[in-house]
Amino acid sequence: MGTSAGAARSHRCGELRAEHVGQEVVLCGWVQSRRDHGAVAFMDLRDRYGLIQVVADEDSPAESREFLGKLHLEDCMQVTGTVRMRGEGNRNPDRATGDVEVVAKKVERLSIAKPVPIEILDDLDAPEELRLRYRYLDLRRTPMRRFIEQRTQANHAIRSNLVEQGFVEVETPMLTKSTPEGARDYLVPSRMKAGHVYALPQSPQIFKQLCMVAGLDRYFQIARCLRDEDLRADRQPEFTQLDLEMSFVEEEDVFQTVEQVVAALYQSLFGQTLERPFERMSYAEAMRRYASDKPDLRNPLEIVDLQSVAGDLGFKVFDSVLSAGGMVRGLRVPGGASLSRKAIESIEQTARDAGGAGAAWCKVTEGGQATGPMGRFLKGEAGAAFLAALQAEAGDLVLAVADRKRVALVVLDHVRRKAGQLMDLVQGPDRLLWITEFPLFEEVEDGVWAPAHHPFTSPVEEDLDILRQGQKDGVRSRAYDLVLNGVELGSGSIRIHRREVQEVVFEAIGLSPEQARRRFSFLLEAFDYGPPPHGGFAIGLDRLYALLFQAESIRDVIAFPKTSSAACPLTGAPGQADPAQLEELGLQLSERASVVESPESV
Ligand code: AMO
Repeated sequence: MGTSAGAARSHRCGELRAEHVGQEVVLCGWVQSRRDHGAVAFMDLRDRYGLIQVVADEDSPAESREFLGKLHLEDCMQVTGTVRMRGEGNRNPDRATGDVEVVAKKVERLSIAKPVPIEILDDLDAPEELRLRYRYLDLRRTPMRRFIEQRTQANHAIRSNLVEQGFVEVETPMLTKSTPEGARDYLVPSRMKAGHVYALPQSPQIFKQLCMVAGLDRYFQIARCLRDEDLRADRQPEFTQLDLEMSFVEEEDVFQTVEQVVAALYQSLFGQTLERPFERMSYAEAMRRYASDKPDLRNPLEIVDLQSVAGDLGFKVFDSVLSAGGMVRGLRVPGGASLSRKAIESIEQTARDAGGAGAAWCKVTEGGQATGPMGRFLKGEAGAAFLAALQAEAGDLVLAVADRKRVALVVLDHVRRKAGQLMDLVQGPDRLLWITEFPLFEEVEDGVWAPAHHPFTSPVEEDLDILRQGQKDGVRSRAYDLVLNGVELGSGSIRIHRREVQEVVFEAIGLSPEQARRRFSFLLEAFDYGPPPHGGFAIGLDRLYALLFQAESIRDVIAFPKTSSAACPLTGAPGQADPAQLEELGLQLSERASVVESPESV
């Protein structure tokens, strides 16, 4: 262990082995279980390092024996005793300390525990709301404690790798001005300057760019970020990013740096050497082949464009979508003809749940005939051309989706994932993938375009001209994401460092020069003093750790997380403010605008 156990104890419960037999030890910990058999009483004492069996028998003072049997679960104890071998038949091979036990000489209760609302069991099955309410008890459980230990190790591996790579660690302010990540800010009213507010940072984006103007060259931070947004399973209102920024770099430099960090993590956590470079794919290619900007490459199914063959079938659904300017794409599921009717219906349901009308399908028979609902349209040459476009073979299932482009892509992504899962295709080693050249704008509604990233994201140089002409569709940015097995781990970009380009982008995203000045004046001013070309990246660490540690949820790897309604059952936050505090801040609060809690608790 390398460090002293502390004044109150000589050893840790989990460290005792046969080599300690005969030693007198003083242990501290919590009562995991106890059994009183009259002449002999047992207790399992637990600390962070493990469990040890304590026994009070004829070798122990009578009062210890009596006391041991009366303890409550989770009482905090100090036990003095002697380590001895357990009898042959009484050893527990499943426990690291299972060969030995401690014969109690003195048993002292350091503090008492009330009956615990959740049990300290590895496989506890309790509502999460209750676990969060008593998080300090939940964290006593081994799997939860292990997440915290793994997180410590992972953060350490990240820090040492980046320091080795020459990065400096800078802590940026929490009380600041609005940052540009596009979620709602958490605001903190100022007492000193009445009527004014600080915003909590949605990310250190602006400060890290200022670090580059400051000539720090390579910055990193394990940074808390706060976003008041609607929460999903993989989102928290407060979360942690590994945030990076580098000067005089191109995309490849950032990729290589991040790859080294991720590789160091895998090495440290699993002793595994990651294959590098990670795969790279443009956004356009990812959308074309997988209908997703975060494809899980473990799933081999690929989307096929059926636009040129779908119109010849006399299939009304396709015809009407095509004439309305929509999209027809599909995929071939090798061997998918073996799927049951029920399984295929679940794919259709997935398509509907994703917002589509469904998925057309057919099976391909040994004779090359198409059967199933779409089968009757796949006759003759046109039908053969359709199946040929998909390279469909006997025994395959063919799925096709026709809809408006935005809907069709979402549906295809879901259908591809569902079919991959049903066919048990999602297997093999972790697939890390860079998605590059994200569009600068996204179509949020038909014909309505919004910036896809923060306004300092650089456009691709060749697309500057069309951007200047006011075009939005198809303008590429120098933004990139890192994806692990279909989950977006992080994002970043090469930034704009030229005033002239920044103005074009502000204008294109609808920020007037005055609005831009008002929001980002200090950054724009800094850019008057020789900003270096720079770029960076941020990994969502909670998300990454939840995946790497195989946690059930992002909340499991956060010591004190919030529920999906951004509440903390433990502290009761958000709570009501003291009227005197509000008075001091010049604030009056109204409850009218509260968002109603979603029924599915956590
Ligand atoms: P972005 O907003 O994409 O980029 O965030 C980067 C990564 O942070 C994680 N993340 C979250 N994790 C948990 N809960 C949330 N609410 C949440 N929101 C985001 C995700 C995401 O990929 N400043 C830019 C980075 C840059 O350009 O350098 C930024 O914050 O894993």
